Amino acid sequence: MKKIDFYLKDALKNGYALGAYNFSNLETLKAICEGSKNTKSPVIVAVSEGALSYLGENYLMSMIETVKNEYKNLPIFLHLDHGKSFEICKKAVKLGFDSIMFDGSSLPFEQNVKNTKKVVDYAHKYGIFVEAELGVLAGIEDTVSADKAIFTNPQAAKEFVSKTNCDSLAVAVGTSHGAYKFKGKSEIRFDILEKIQKEVSIPLVLHGASSVPQNFIKTINKFGGDMNGAKGIDSKILSKCAKDYHICKINTDTDLRLCYIATLRKHFAENPKDFDIRNANLIAIKEMTKLIEEKNHIFNCENRIK
Ligand code: G3H
Ligand code: 13P
Ligand code: ZN
Repeated sequence: MKKIDFYLKDALKNGYALGAYNFSNLETLKAICEGSKNTKSPVIVAVSEGALSYLGENYLMSMIETVKNEYKNLPIFLHLDHGKSFEICKKAVKLGFDSIMFDGSSLPFEQNVKNTKKVVDYAHKYGIFVEAELGVLAGIEDTVSADKAIFTNPQAAKEFVSKTNCDSLAVAVGTSHGAYKFKGKSEIRFDILEKIQKEVSIPLVLHGASSVPQNFIKTINKFGGDMNGAKGIDSKILSKCAKDYHICKINTDTDLRLCYIATLRKHFAENPKDFDIRNANLIAIKEMTKLIEEKNHIFNCENRIK
């Protein structure tokens, strides 16, 4: 089976991006794998520090072993999302993750370089892929939070990559984590992205890339939720990032959460006597599977298994 660096380089060469989908339960993981099998797309399954502690490392690794066996012909890469310390990155390497992200983006430049390099030197000894981040995304998500965005500086990106030897770079070009990304029009700084990719030749990563589909928001609001004003990034922008720019990994968490919660809220509101979670979960798995298929299409990642 080809490794993750093969696919990210292939994505760079051929104008597509791998979906990196966050999960924290079995239902979501199953849907990610099923959808990716259907579109024949290599897939990155991502766990945050929060998801890792929620699941517990033994449960997580058994789940991953099981899906890797169940989906033998599907390249599934387990990735640590936003590892904030050397210790958590080391733990992920020891557990057998395929790839880790060290996120030193909130640190001053030199400190980010130093800490990232320490993680890279360690992970590379074990042949593990390292994503790093420069620039700050606005938004809040569990352990990942910032009030204001700081766009990635293209010159600094060049220096950062050469000093750290990281394998891919997450950039801040206007997206943000969570369900409230834009007050007005959804747009990102393609001008900055273009300058970064002139300076840096490794695959780039787009975080905070959920589209926040309005049908999910409507359903959530209709059945007791309150998510007025939620807005995400236009799918056309994501396609452009994957096809015409060097974005090779697109991170999505929020959209899967919205899909799941909208389904549960609707199901239990419409079936007030039902108290069997399996009924709602089965519908949610189907809906999330469809969502993954749509995303892999948007990312131009269909039929990419080699
Ligand atoms: O970017 C962060 C991910 O969406 C993870 O979110 O830390 O709430 O699991 P979480
Ligand atoms: P969203 O909140 O836009 O789904 O972003 C997820 C993410 O970047 C995970 O690292
Ligand atoms: Zn992120």
